[in-house]
Amino acid sequence: MLGNSFGRLFRVTTCGESYGKGEGSGLAVIVDGVPAGLKITEEYIQKELDKRKPGVGKLNSPRLETDKCTIFAGIGQDRITTGAPLGIIIYNVDTQDVHIQQYREYKDIFRPGHATYPFFLKYGEFQDWCGAGRSSGRETVARVAGGAVAKFILEREGIEVIAYTKECMGIIAKDMSFEEIKKNYMRNEINCPDLETGEKMEKKVLEIKEEGDTAGGIIEAIVHNIPPGIGEPVFDKLSATIAHAVCSIGAVKGIEFGAGFNVARMKGSENNDQPYITKEGKIRFKTNNAGGFLGGMSDGEDIIVRVAVKPTPTISIEQTSINMKNMKEKKLKPITRRDPTLLARIYVVVESMMAIAVLDGIYMARAYDAMTKLDEKWLNLKK
Ligand SMILES: Cc1cc2nc3c(=O)[nH]c(=O)nc-3n(C[C@H](O)[C@H](O)[C@H](O)COP(=O)(O)O)c2cc1C
Repeated sequence: MLGNSFGRLFRVTTCGESYGKGEGSGLAVIVDGVPAGLKITEEYIQKELDKRKPGVGKLNSPRLETDKCTIFAGIGQDRITTGAPLGIIIYNVDTQDVHIQQYREYKDIFRPGHATYPFFLKYGEFQDWCGAGRSSGRETVARVAGGAVAKFILEREGIEVIAYTKECMGIIAKDMSFEEIKKNYMRNEINCPDLETGEKMEKKVLEIKEEGDTAGGIIEAIVHNIPPGIGEPVFDKLSATIAHAVCSIGAVKGIEFGAGFNVARMKGSENNDQPYITKEGKIRFKTNNAGGFLGGMSDGEDIIVRVAVKPTPTISIEQTSINMKNMKEKKLKPITRRDPTLLARIYVVVESMMAIAVLDGIYMARAYDAMTKLDEKWLNLKK
């Protein structure tokens, strides 16, 4: 299997499966590019992991994982980073035989909406039939641990990344300021800062759950306080790196920046964000249709990204399918353990991948800045 790392200078590599084999199976992340001297604790990382933990609340899968993390490498005796790669591991605990048995029974079956078909094409009979292996939503726990490290470093720069539920099954949250969103987005299970609309969303998801079905929606992510000039002008645009990061998350089916697909319905005069000079002599923009990018590089406004999340593929409704071994059509029975929507858990995965992409972009920009002989005037504009 190729492609288990993301990032150039700040880089995460993940391994591990949703079930793995026996005691001691789990997921791990190696984080490259962590500065020495950081007091990053397991408690800090745990807070992020708890945001995507299953088994809590009515909108989540009943799988009971503690998601407890251990930093096993990269910190010294005083529990401060040494500059070496940081290693974090999270063991699986809820890998009960009853569920393994259920997966075994269906191991040759194409599960609609899941990654099983390409897995058969790539790995044949050795494809990981238990819990979707590397394509399981559980893989994202390692990303969130890596993302926590990225967030920790970004916080020192005054940069914040948050993601919340903007839309669920056509129910849309009102527009709110960054501060309002930050204050309220963790106050309900669906992570919608517009609390009244969030209630309607939750009610809708529970109705759909009753039918044995699942619900899709839209996550909006914001990067607040990012300096301008991050990203490279051609293939390594920050917008492109973010798209790579976010579209690598399972169940993500669409991405837009700022006004996004709405630009197709706008005139240039409506869409262009006009600049002005602040009292402090900095450049800002009167609007943010560009979602914080010009030429794919940050322009100093908040980065705004919206992500379409498909309904959870596992449903409690019988479906038609195929036995891949004997190539016969077969009915797939309803399956009970599932998330009725992914929105309540995926938002923190989006935050994490955004944080990793942005931090990597900042490392690249600072490395390049250090080698240029540009007049201070231009460098100062970025501060
Ligand atoms: C955090 C997270 C949790 C997920 N949980 C589940 C789940 O409980 N059941 C399920 O069927 N799919 C779940 N998924 C979605 C599948 O992993 C994904 O839809 C599948 O691998 C197919 O990939 P695709 O949707 O990108 O085509 C989850 C995804 C994420 C990111």
